[in-house]
Amino acid sequence: MRMSLLFIPLLLAHIPIVSHAADIHDAAMNGDVAAIAAALDAGAGINESDGTATPLYFAVWMGHIEAAKLLIERGADVNAQTALGPPLMAAVGVGKIDLLNLLLERGADPNSVRGGEFALHVAVTLDCLDCVKALVEAGADVNAKTMDGKTPLHLAKSRGQREVADYLLSHGVVLPTPAPISMKLASADVEKGRTYFTHACDRCHNAEPKGVTKTGPNLWSVVGRDKASMANMRYSDALLGWEGVWTYEDLNRYLFGPMLTTPGVKMETPGVPDETERVNVIAYLRTLSDKPIPLP
Ligand code: HEC
Repeated sequence: MRMSLLFIPLLLAHIPIVSHAADIHDAAMNGDVAAIAAALDAGAGINESDGTATPLYFAVWMGHIEAAKLLIERGADVNAQTALGPPLMAAVGVGKIDLLNLLLERGADPNSVRGGEFALHVAVTLDCLDCVKALVEAGADVNAKTMDGKTPLHLAKSRGQREVADYLLSHGVVLPTPAPISMKLASADVEKGRTYFTHACDRCHNAEPKGVTKTGPNLWSVVGRDKASMANMRYSDALLGWEGVWTYEDLNRYLFGPMLTTPGVKMETPGVPDETERVNVIAYLRTLSDKPIPLP
């Protein structure tokens, strides 16, 4: 009996803290500046998460700039991580340029990430050119890759967003060029190339004469063939725009990283980044022909 009486003041002392915490998240969500100030004055934690996100995240997400300003002035951490990412991701996600600028001015990281995707990728996906510009001007990495290897330029090109793509290209995009491999083909291991093809390419590409189109075009006779020229295939603009036949060096460049060297490509795979494996695969592709093109 005496024990339980002792607990009562502890319980009472606890209740106000819990309810302030709830107050401040609701107030932030509603953009209620007075209620936010009152909750803070009563001792609510400014960077406290309600289990999902901080008050600043909610204010930004709902587009309440005055509430966001107040929270930042009262010491909210603009880079606080939440289950939904930092506040900057909320601003980009709803395409709110004024809130995005506010956060960047107050020190938010332009390379903020959520779920393996950078803020710049989200801005490109939403086709928000102003957001892209704000992020790049604040130092966002234009060559950043998502977990599955997509660059902002690849996303822009895949979606036909010419203005965004041009902006990125004139602001530091690097299109990698692998070292030449032609002279290494003579000593390549064609059997290893065939094995590699079986586990990495087969599911999307037929390699027999007259084989049907799968997700990707038939690769019989691909070396020396006009690029993007198979009748039954709907190619990307990226590949259609690459003139000429497939030379060994063009295959080298393409397969080094299709999304990196040929942004906008429909083959959204890592390609064959390892040089030795790439040389083996290209040497194998050469054999897919009645009359293989001579080795250099
Ligand atoms: C997930 C499916 C997929 C995988 C896996 C894949 N590709 Fe592709 N590939 C495609 C698609 C789709 C295209 C057409 C690309 C475009 O139009 O942008 C393509 C195009 C190509 C082309 C150009 C052909 C032409 O007609 O111009 C070559 C060469 C190629 N792939 C080689 C490979 C090799 C080698 C591998 C394995 C290392 C591979 N691909 C793995 C889907 C795939």
